[in-house]
Amino acid sequence: MKQGIIFDLDGVLLSTDEMHYTAWKSIADELGVPFGRTENNLLRGVSRMASLEIILGLGNLTLPEDVKFSLTERKNNRYVALLQTLTPDVVTQEVRDTLKELKARGIKIAIGSSSKNAKLILRLTDLAQYFDAVSDGTNISHSKPDPEVFLKGADFLGLSPDVCAVVEDAVAGIDAANAGGFYSIGIGDASKYDKADAAIEHISELLNVI
Ligand code: BG6
Ligand code: MG
Repeated sequence: MKQGIIFDLDGVLLSTDEMHYTAWKSIADELGVPFGRTENNLLRGVSRMASLEIILGLGNLTLPEDVKFSLTERKNNRYVALLQTLTPDVVTQEVRDTLKELKARGIKIAIGSSSKNAKLILRLTDLAQYFDAVSDGTNISHSKPDPEVFLKGADFLGLSPDVCAVVEDAVAGIDAANAGGFYSIGIGDASKYDKADAAIEHISELLNVI
């Protein structure tokens, strides 16, 4: 039995994919870059600036640093405006019951998210109460697939990676977990990724694989 579980947020405990998509789509349209939901999947788990670089790559565009910075700011302003519609109802009872059960078993739980908006999302959805630690885009210099966000999360819990599992929906997140020496559990898109140590369809199955 693992002593700690580090959860990616977006795509694992809830989904703001559609909001990221709407915000990035408006930027891509302005740039004249063809951008649909398939392309949006490439941005899963990737940092804000790295996401813009992917979009620019799709359009064979290069832009100066200051223009790129202002585009990421605009995307974030649109995304944060959409986040305001989040309520606790977007989190399923299955997610809440699983988090409560982990706590009841004495397992420490943390967030390991690339997002700089993770704490805002946790607050709006009333999820913050379950977590012993939050490692997010505000405390890292390297985005997934670098393991930094998970290593910091384990450190915040006072645990070493070998006694922790990571739950991820992104391929980049599974790579990050493996690189950090964590037991990697894929869900959603990442449940089909053969480098994940375990795969689950539903979050409640987590209790069977740790
Ligand atoms: C991840 C999302 O959780 O956070 C990515 O999967 C997103 O799509 C990344 O780019 C960074 O988010 P933010 O909120 O800091 O722009
Ligand atoms: Mg994710």
